[in-house]
Amino acid sequence: MQDYQGILNEIHRSLRNSINTGEVANYIPELAKEDKDALGIHLQLITGEEFSVGRALEKFSIQSISKVLSLAQAFQIVGTDLWKRVDVEPSGNPFNHLSLLELENGIPRNPLINAGAIVIADVLLSHLDSPKQDFLNFVRELVHDESIEFNKAIAESERITGFNNYAAANLLKSFGNLNNDVEDVLDFYFHQCSIMMSCEQLTKAFFVFSNKGKCLKNIRHLAANKVKRINAIMLTCGFYDEAGEFAFEVGLPGKSGVGGGIVALLPHCYTIATWAPALNPQGNSYLGMKALEQFTAKTDLSIF
Ligand code: DON
Repeated sequence: MQDYQGILNEIHRSLRNSINTGEVANYIPELAKEDKDALGIHLQLITGEEFSVGRALEKFSIQSISKVLSLAQAFQIVGTDLWKRVDVEPSGNPFNHLSLLELENGIPRNPLINAGAIVIADVLLSHLDSPKQDFLNFVRELVHDESIEFNKAIAESERITGFNNYAAANLLKSFGNLNNDVEDVLDFYFHQCSIMMSCEQLTKAFFVFSNKGKCLKNIRHLAANKVKRINAIMLTCGFYDEAGEFAFEVGLPGKSGVGGGIVALLPHCYTIATWAPALNPQGNSYLGMKALEQFTAKTDLSIF
């Protein structure tokens, strides 16, 4: 077996000593409080072994990483009908871009940009009895951890500054691609983004995507053919207008969030999560991307 702990230590050391040109997200005021210098990495192998370095056990707001989990729950519930309301093409645009949505008649390019995730939130609202609690329970069950919670201060901070997401939801509504009230759908969306998790918990939540739909306790949560498709969407759309760069540099399906987290995976082998709140101009963690590039280079473990 490779010296995974040694490799994580080496990456952590080299990045702590590097210049970090990223900036903490400040368009959601509560997120601006994050420590720019935080850095954590957690690795979960398919065999059950795990390795950690830095602040990997500290919780942060998972933000857009939640979009993969809401997609998984919605896809599991409604199946392929989902694709009538949201496409699976990379957008090549920032996560909050709106003009394509209008040009393409209210069908978002994919479920991982904001407009797509808002449609997924609408689907969940229509199918779950207690949408926020049921979604939270779905995430808790993937991780086997009841301590996972929403951060109400972050959800509220995003709501009062969420003009762009209100615009997206209203545009979707005007095209008939939102069945519930704009306010209710966005309340769900802001809460899903506010969920607090650590790198360690993220690697456990995403274990199903590396293990054909079964969690660490070998319980099936998703059909294997659905996992295949969700991984493809992560690879092509998980990093917005930087999806090509992430595939090129790192070579793994994954997802980022403006809280500074990234989670990525190699099917049948491992899941890995990084947390470093300073973001590059595309809204992806500056040091997180570098850490993952170094990890797949040093271990020679990517999908390519
Ligand atoms: O909708 C937003 O703007 C945030 N709640 C999520 C954005 C996000 O995390 C984009 N990811 N890199």
